[in-house]
This record gives sequence, C-alpha cells and structure tokens, in this order.
Amino acid sequence: MCGIVGILGTHEVAPALVEALRRLEYRGYDSAGIATVNEGRLDRRRAVGKLVNLSDLLVHDPLAGKSGIGHTRWATHGAPTEGNAHPHRSGPVAVVHNGIVENYKDLRAELARHGLTPHTDTDTETIAMLAQHHLDTGMAPVEAAFATIDKLEGAFALAFLFDGEEDLMVGARKGSPLAVGHGDGEMYLGSDAIALAPMTNRITYLEEGDRAVLTRTGATIRDAEGRAVTREVRTISMDAARVDKGGHKHFMAKEIAEQPSVLSDTLNAYLTQDGIALPGPGIDFAALDRLTITACGTAYLAGFTAKYWFEQIARLPVDVDVASEFRYREPPIPPRTAALFISQSGETADTLAALRYCRDKATALYGVVNVPESSIARESDLALPIHAGVEIGVASTKAFTCQLTVLLLLALKAAEQRGHLTPEARDKVLAQLRALPGVLNTALGRDQHIEAVAQELAEARDILFLGRGAMYPLAHEGALKLKEISYIHAEAYASGELKHGPIALIDQHVPVVVLAPRDGLFEKTVSNMQEVMARGGKVVLITDAAGAESAGAEAWKVIQMPEVPDLLAPILYALPAQLLAYHTAVAKGTDVDQPRNLAKSVTVE
Ligand code: AGP
Repeated sequence: MCGIVGILGTHEVAPALVEALRRLEYRGYDSAGIATVNEGRLDRRRAVGKLVNLSDLLVHDPLAGKSGIGHTRWATHGAPTEGNAHPHRSGPVAVVHNGIVENYKDLRAELARHGLTPHTDTDTETIAMLAQHHLDTGMAPVEAAFATIDKLEGAFALAFLFDGEEDLMVGARKGSPLAVGHGDGEMYLGSDAIALAPMTNRITYLEEGDRAVLTRTGATIRDAEGRAVTREVRTISMDAARVDKGGHKHFMAKEIAEQPSVLSDTLNAYLTQDGIALPGPGIDFAALDRLTITACGTAYLAGFTAKYWFEQIARLPVDVDVASEFRYREPPIPPRTAALFISQSGETADTLAALRYCRDKATALYGVVNVPESSIARESDLALPIHAGVEIGVASTKAFTCQLTVLLLLALKAAEQRGHLTPEARDKVLAQLRALPGVLNTALGRDQHIEAVAQELAEARDILFLGRGAMYPLAHEGALKLKEISYIHAEAYASGELKHGPIALIDQHVPVVVLAPRDGLFEKTVSNMQEVMARGGKVVLITDAAGAESAGAEAWKVIQMPEVPDLLAPILYALPAQLLAYHTAVAKGTDVDQPRNLAKSVTVE
C-alpha cells in the first residue's frame, strides 16, 4: 500500500518529508520520491528501492523548499522504476497518489486529443496531466484540482502541489484514507497519523469524498457534493506516534511479545464486574438467525475460528468467507442475518466492498477493527475495537489474537443472550479469559525451543500444517504466517482430510506441523499423525503436557504449550505458530517486517 505525505512548512521540508515517509515504510513499498516548490519552482527527486536510496540522492542533489509532497510507492500499474515513482509531474503540477484510477486509459485518450502524451506506465501520471489540462483551459489551481478529482473513477488518496504556489496544497480522499495535520504555522497531509506524528498530534481524518485545500493558516474542506464542511480535529494518542521496536530486532518480534499486555487491554475494554459490555447499543444476538463473517487473510482466519465458537456455544449458524469472493458472489442475505467484518487496518478494499454490499441487506453491520477512525469502523453500524495498538509488522500477530479475543467475547455474549450460557458458566469462562494473558506470557518462555525447531524447518521446501476443530483455521494461520514471511511453501489441511489426497505429499522432506491440544479431538489427530510418520513424515507436534505425554515420543519435535481450557486454545496456539514463522524467516534472512510483494493493508483490489 502506498504512503502519502505533504508539508506546508516554515523550514526546509525535504528532511521532514523523508522522515515522514520512513514512518510509512511499514505499509510496504518499492520506490519513493519527494517534490517541493522553492522560490516558485516545482522540482522533484525520486529513487527505486528503500528510502535510503532517496536520502543518498538528496545528499548529492539536494531539494530546497518549504512546501513539499512525498510518496512511497507499492507498484500497481507499471514496474518499480524511477520513472514510475511518485511524485508524478505534468507541467506545473505534481501529484502523489495511493490507490487505483480505473478510468485512466479513457482519460489518456481524451488528453491525447489535447496534445498531452504520457511518459510513464502509471495511472497517477494521468492525474497530473489532467490537472495541467485544466490549468491550460484557464482554471485556477484549486479549481483545476477539483475538476480533475471529479473525473477520476476508482479509489484514491491524493496530494497536489503547483508551480508558483508556495502556500497551497490540495488533498482528496476517495476509497483510501487521508489525514490533515494541524501545526503551528504549518499544515500537513498524510496517509495516517503515524506519518505526521513527529510534527503534530492534531489530526483531521477526511471523510469519503472529501477534498481539502491547505494553506499555512489552515484547511478548508468540501464534501463530494462540493459543500463546505467542518471535520473534527482530534488529538491522537502519542501511542500512535510511538512506533519503535522497543529493543526487539523486528517489529514482528515486538508485537508477538506485546500480546499478553494488549490482550489485557482488550479484555479490560470489554469486561466489567457484571460480565461483557459491548460499546454503544451493543448487539442483540437473540434477534438473529444467522451471522455472516467476511474478511481477508489473517482477519478471515480469525472469523473462521469464530465460526466454531458461535456455532458451538451460541448455536448461531455462521457463514464465513473471504471478502474478495463474497463481494462478487453476491450471496443472498436472509432476514435476521447480521454481517460482521474483521479488519486490522479497517481499510482493506475487498472487505470494505463486502460491507457496502451488505449495507441494505443485512440486519446490522459490525466491524471488528484496530483503527477506530478507519473506513470500515465508520461505515459499520457498530465498531468493535480490538485495542491491539499500532501494528507495524506486515505479518499480523497481536491483531490476530486480539481479534480472536473480541470474537470469543461476542460468541459468549451471543450464548448468554440466546440462553445457552448461564451466568455461572459465563463467569467461569471470563475468569479463564482474564488469566489468559498470563498463560501467553508463560508460552513466550518457550521461544528459544521454538527457535531451535525453526532452524531446522528453514531447510524445508514445503511444510504442511494440520488441525482439527478450531485448530483447523489455526493451521491455516500457521501456514499463512510461515509462507508470507519465510517464503517457504506451506499449506494447511483439516487433519481428517489427509487421507483424501494430501498424504501423497508426505515423505521425509516434508515437515508436518500438527496443532493439537489434548482435547476431545486429540486421539483422532494422533492417528493422523501416525499415518504421516508411517510414511517417513517428520511431525512437529504443538500440544500441551498431556498431549506430549501421550504422543510426544513418536514425534520428530514437540513444542509444549501451557494448559488452557479448550475454548481458549485457538488464542494461545496462535503464539507458537507466529514464533515458528518468525524464527524460520529470521533463519532464512528474509525481510521479516516488510516481506517481498506484501503491503500492510491492501487498499486496492
Ligand atoms: C496477515 O499476516 C497479512 N498481512 C494479511 O493477510 C492481512 O491479514 C490481510 O491483508 C487483512 O488485512 P486487514 O486485517 O487490515 O483487513
């Protein structure tokens, strides 16, 4: 996902632009650039690869100016080259863009008729060309920017800078988030509060369709219909600003280690002495016949896990699907069906599109999110924050376990309201949940042993993950974590499915990770394990003391977890899966926090 920043400053802006872009690195990128207006002249510097290449360029070929825009690009249209890097320029206009302009080819054809031809492969250059065309027709810069925005189809966040305009910047938001920062005699634009944190914590989040005109004295905002509007200026907690590794080698390691404390925050946000308190009007699960859960990636796997909980303890049927399929399958939504969306960023394009599909069909829309100001949060009837704190690592870890925690609380609430959970039984489970952060802390103590197992997994070319019951979605999460940061091919199967084909993959070169606490399904999983070992497969058994006692001797490796009630096991067993993936990736020397080809939030289809 690209990152945008803009500064109308009182000092030279190039260093501040680069620092702001550094704070957006977590979003994933493959090139970067800045543009400034200095003594009325627009100029730019761009570089492929990491930000350090842009910094080096600026040392040798500095860029002066107190007004500027910057961008980290995650390539969608056009290869990651300097020529395709933002800011894009056409005559007196420079623009940076996050998103996709779906009608850029039509716009190019129209511009060609006015003698304007592109020099790059990007949709973004078309935006600058269109703005130049509008200036050529005599429009003033702001009018030209607005007329350009009106012609764009697709999803975008934009920032414009104009030749000769030292005290003007135009921003727009349609499908990708954009924030306005308020300084002292300075004003800013940024993809999020993190980028602007070194300069301000006073933030205005633009709404869908908003466009903002910034000068150093402030911002005027108009909505999609062109009406002048006032948007709230929020003071963002400095936690959003404090993005450092806290002494860990990677953000992912820090975020794995933070799980006991952030889970406590999540529980404290929802638990009272009377039980589970949901925000706002809450949810009446007794009024529902069905729940449909939609998300992407790890968030989807949290929803898949929640299906087991809602159906087993609340007897509430749940459909769960990945948003990219759901939104185009256009499923019928029966009456008395609520739709629940899970998203760490709250900006994932497919999940947001799925939410919009359900808007006029579902009884209610619920968003389980980590960013309360995000689009999914704001477009839900009720946002359910997970309180995981800022998650920088592209591989989602603490957000996943906090999502699971909130989803389990919702399932318990549903069970209570639907008459399947007595207050006594509820209090017992809540007491176990309150103890869970401590259990996770104990599990973190197994880190060294897990690292040793990972050292050997790092040699594998293919790895299978097996699980039964709620451990089956966890097996998928373990496979996803491993493949996305170590680049080792990994797949997950329901243990019971092995005999229906996948067992053909088994030989001594294919490690099989089995997630199996000693629960009611353990014996069945052990027999699947034995089928694997009978064919030379090497089993890494992740289990508890009883499981290790019963089947550990036969396994190649055993990772022993502390005891945990069956219902809470998916939250705990996420941790060894995360650590296994992390240490395998470190052993392989991959870019753990910013794995190749990935972005932290996929705000384009
Ligand atoms: C998880 O490790 C991945 N980074 C990815 O699958 C992620 O969970 C997915 O893109 C959904 O993102 P969201 O939670 O921000 O919607």
